Amino acid sequence: MKEQDILENERQKEYIEKACRLTSEFAGKLGRIPTACVVTFGCQMNARDSEKLSGVLRYAGFELTEDEDCDLLIYNTCTVRDNADNRLLGRLGSAGAIKKKKPGMKIALCGCMMQQTGIPGKIKETYPFVDLIFGTHNIFRFPEYLCGILEDTKICEIWEKTDTIAEDLPSERKYPFKSGVNIMYGCNNFCTYCIVPYVRGRERSRNSEDIIGEIKGLADDGVIEVMLLGQNVNSYGKGLDEETDFADLLKRVEEIEGIKRIRFMTSHPKDLSDKLIGVMKDSDKICRHLHLPLQSGSDRVLKRMNRVYDRSKYIDLALRIREEIPDIAITTDIMLGFPGETESDTDDTIDVIKKVGFDNAFTFIYSKRTGTPAADMPDQVSEEWVKHEFDRVLEAVKISAQERAALLKGKVMDALVEDVYTQRPGMVSGRLSNNMIVHFDGRPSDYGRIVPISLDECKGFYYIGSRK
Ligand code: 5AD
Ligand code: SF4
Repeated sequence: MKEQDILENERQKEYIEKACRLTSEFAGKLGRIPTACVVTFGCQMNARDSEKLSGVLRYAGFELTEDEDCDLLIYNTCTVRDNADNRLLGRLGSAGAIKKKKPGMKIALCGCMMQQTGIPGKIKETYPFVDLIFGTHNIFRFPEYLCGILEDTKICEIWEKTDTIAEDLPSERKYPFKSGVNIMYGCNNFCTYCIVPYVRGRERSRNSEDIIGEIKGLADDGVIEVMLLGQNVNSYGKGLDEETDFADLLKRVEEIEGIKRIRFMTSHPKDLSDKLIGVMKDSDKICRHLHLPLQSGSDRVLKRMNRVYDRSKYIDLALRIREEIPDIAITTDIMLGFPGETESDTDDTIDVIKKVGFDNAFTFIYSKRTGTPAADMPDQVSEEWVKHEFDRVLEAVKISAQERAALLKGKVMDALVEDVYTQRPGMVSGRLSNNMIVHFDGRPSDYGRIVPISLDECKGFYYIGSRK
């Protein structure tokens, strides 16, 4: 860590100690342990940020709950599409009603939506009951802000950018046996539809030593699976003093004793190297899953999106990966309704779905984000038209996913037991290396264990299996 980051960490650790005292006074006033609820919207990055917020709260003396009727409620927001913004505002209204009946309650907002120009001001005006607003760049200052609101100060602090990567705070993992690990922050790609580079800032990689140190600590603490997180993990290492890249980092993570599975997210097709394919192929620990966002299969649209690859490059890359690593699952993100799109563009996208044979895909309807270049494109398309095209793409994805899933029937594969299967008593849910879910008879004592499972019955997107 840089000198300035170490100092900032120390400063925040002092605030955590202070927060412990203030939380205990708060508990005294309430006559019970105060409860805190962290609600996460959006992606894996936000989920990991929420684990850090929860870690600080637990350490300070809060009891964590999923009930929004609590003493400290935090919404960790997303803003990638406008429905995320709308959902948040709806929830915030309900939270205000809870607070009315509970005057000591604190409400905080953080995450990507808070980084949008004008949003914090609008929230302060419309929802004056909010106690704390902070953004993505200053999340490591949460202990300090927590002390502020426990002393009844209202705080709104948003930074335009930061060079600080202060990571050494407690975190509370949702699963004891797996964890996300940030390897980089921000994005430099400026896809024309995307708000992320504006709200998460420029790309910054963490030092490899810090990442490896964090993962060793997690392994000592019982973690067997890590998910390396970044908006564009394939450009990891750019701008660091050390000479390294993502493939090198993966090799080092592989050597860590106790780590049995390694995942990563997200890969930009333009930066995926042959070296990385080689490292994945030779690895026993790197999972057989690659999430490789396509967005569109039309060259004209890809160009307007500033994706920097064309359809043939994408298809070549995906098929090359399949050839090298035959058991890999390739999943993707597809967006429909980008300005100027026509039926023939959708045909091109469906054609790529068929040629690559995706194992699954997240499909999104384009959402206009103020401040992005695409928002100013004149030829925005109608919602009705998009819905029709969306159905066509969904159907193609469904067929492709089912065909791919069916290929696994009868195989025996290792599953990491993650949860109970709530639909059927006595069953648990496991995840295969290729990210497919399989349900089978099991007990809570199986959580966190990797067990061989026979894939008996294909249910389209998941399997019903039995122990081998
Ligand atoms: N509208 C719709 N979907 C979007 N995504 C990013 N920005 C937008 C937007 N403005 C999708 C992309 C990306 C995924 C995380 O979210 O498909 O890969
Ligand atoms: Fe957004 Fe493109 Fe960066 Fe992904 S790569 S976060 S879609 S700008």
